[in-house]
Amino acid sequence: MLGAMSELDTNNIPNHVAIIMDGNGRWANNRGKDRVFGHMNGVDSVRAAVKTAVKVGVKNLTLYAFSTENWIRPQEEVNALMDLLITTLVNESEELLEQGVKLSTIGDLSALPEKCQTSLNKAVLSNPKEYKLNLTLALNYSSKWEITSAVKAIIASGMKASDVTEKAISNHLATAGTPDPELMIRTSGENRISNFMLWQLAYAEFHFSSVLWPDFREEHFIEALIDYQNRERRFGGVSQQGN
Ligand code: FPP
Repeated sequence: MLGAMSELDTNNIPNHVAIIMDGNGRWANNRGKDRVFGHMNGVDSVRAAVKTAVKVGVKNLTLYAFSTENWIRPQEEVNALMDLLITTLVNESEELLEQGVKLSTIGDLSALPEKCQTSLNKAVLSNPKEYKLNLTLALNYSSKWEITSAVKAIIASGMKASDVTEKAISNHLATAGTPDPELMIRTSGENRISNFMLWQLAYAEFHFSSVLWPDFREEHFIEALIDYQNRERRFGGVSQQGN
């Protein structure tokens, strides 16, 4: 059976999984519907991914919800995505709290509509103190924006060139304090990382799933985790077998 939980090595669960949720538009088009219909159904997959992460013990889950490039989409679609974010936050916050999920964001939130910022701030303020999962939504995020912002902040801090270490750069990224993802999943059969966590994914395993995001469920997540567990991670060294 595809992605059976029993095949999962519970001692080798990645600490951080990052997901590029892709294929909402195509999923809707396949049904003769508006792209927004795909995004609305994508929320069910977000819920399933969060539940699965909590169930298997993934501690950090980052979802690419809106990129800095997504603003060029038709205004109606952008508005619908923003509204969907707000309604999802309102409808799901209690459930998230019950599941022990802490919400955080990466990205330039200042460009989001005021009502989105208010909902996000409200959700973040009601975060549990103890949590099982740190759920990060990447909103108006891109890796090149993030790295550029980090460079600006480092220069503004007056740091000496000799102090600009990899650690110093990591500490100035939006993800500072969160471990790098060990696994990146992208749905919909596209094999790109599209300006997503370029620095943080340096040693991550990539799992490209042909499933369109609104169809992504627990079994697909488990399948990606099993795929990850079957990889041999070398970090630039040699394999355990020495070949
Ligand atoms: C990519 O599919 C998806 C997005 C740009 C938006 C992701 C948003 C959601 C899953 C719903 C809301 C999320 C939250 C966290 C409330 P696409 O539109 O690029 O699909 P296509 O490649 O088939 O056109």
